[in-house]
Amino acid sequence: MSETSFTPRVFSGIQPSGNLHLGNYLGALKRFVDWQEKDVETIYCMVDLHAITVWQDPAKLRHATRELCAGFIAAGLDPARSILINQSQVPEHAQLAWIFNCVARMGWMQRMTQFKDKAGKNAQNASLGLFAYPALMAADILIYHATHVPVGEDQKQHLELTRDIAAKFNHDYGVDFFPMTEPVIEGAATRVMSLRDGSKKMSKSDPSDASRINMTDDADAIAKKIRKAKTDPEGLPSEAKGLEDRPEARNLVEIYAAFAEQSVDQVLAELGGKQFSEFKPLLADLAVSKLAPISAEMSRLMDNQDEIDRILTRGAERARAITAPILRRTYDIVGMVPPVQV
Ligand code: TRP
Repeated sequence: MSETSFTPRVFSGIQPSGNLHLGNYLGALKRFVDWQEKDVETIYCMVDLHAITVWQDPAKLRHATRELCAGFIAAGLDPARSILINQSQVPEHAQLAWIFNCVARMGWMQRMTQFKDKAGKNAQNASLGLFAYPALMAADILIYHATHVPVGEDQKQHLELTRDIAAKFNHDYGVDFFPMTEPVIEGAATRVMSLRDGSKKMSKSDPSDASRINMTDDADAIAKKIRKAKTDPEGLPSEAKGLEDRPEARNLVEIYAAFAEQSVDQVLAELGGKQFSEFKPLLADLAVSKLAPISAEMSRLMDNQDEIDRILTRGAERARAITAPILRRTYDIVGMVPPVQV
């Protein structure tokens, strides 16, 4: 294995925590599909081990993991072209994470803003796993020697930590074994905001279901939520500039543009001047035409859980063909005695 040249390989992960929504689709899944269509190896992971850093109901976790897998496939990820895995089924992730727990420093982890946010005031009562979360994430990426990681802006600090861990490992052991991974941060245009408040990200934890379009919503629900989405009294401007300081209006136009695979300016060149009462039905039709087949395929797959489980088993086998040799070499670098054939 060459240790200095790394072939491009894309890795990303999503937590199986239920309620996949439009933000996950446009911000993550659709971008994952775009990478799959390029000529690079793509690996996408349901990160169940990350999910349990806060307590999860076991039956719900298993359900959410299968549903996330169904969402991956329904969104266009092809298990024959992308490697689709559930994190706990590829044990090398957790094994490398332990090594990284011994590389990362307490001070680095203490600076992680996501830990501070999630642990809240009572950090003493947070799980050790929540504190170590970013080291496991670094292991997810580096156990594949992944070079590109598409994520949201909120994961940038974790990716910087991933580079710090790789650099310290390489330095401490005098090797050039782990690559410096490139973050590929989601652009503002793919960040989907709440339908009720354009300054907040669309989120599965928003108490108002009207704030988000779920990937399992049917056509009626989608149309209704778009019809009720917050806007302002003005109509559509004729260029993107006219959306400044109009977060709700901008969000709806950006969602339209993302579905139509056009720029915001292209959309406005065509639809500028219309009132939202005219625009919303167009957006609803477009959203339904893109999302209805996805939710239909998700429910078909959820009725065929054996198929999902077979896909995950096969994904884990393919993944381990990559991860096992990288873990073996890591253990060798660190000084573990290798197993012998008996
Ligand atoms: N922490 C990521 C999130 O909450 C999920 C994740 C886990 C991930 N491991 C990863 C993302 C590896 C990219 C690469 O969104």
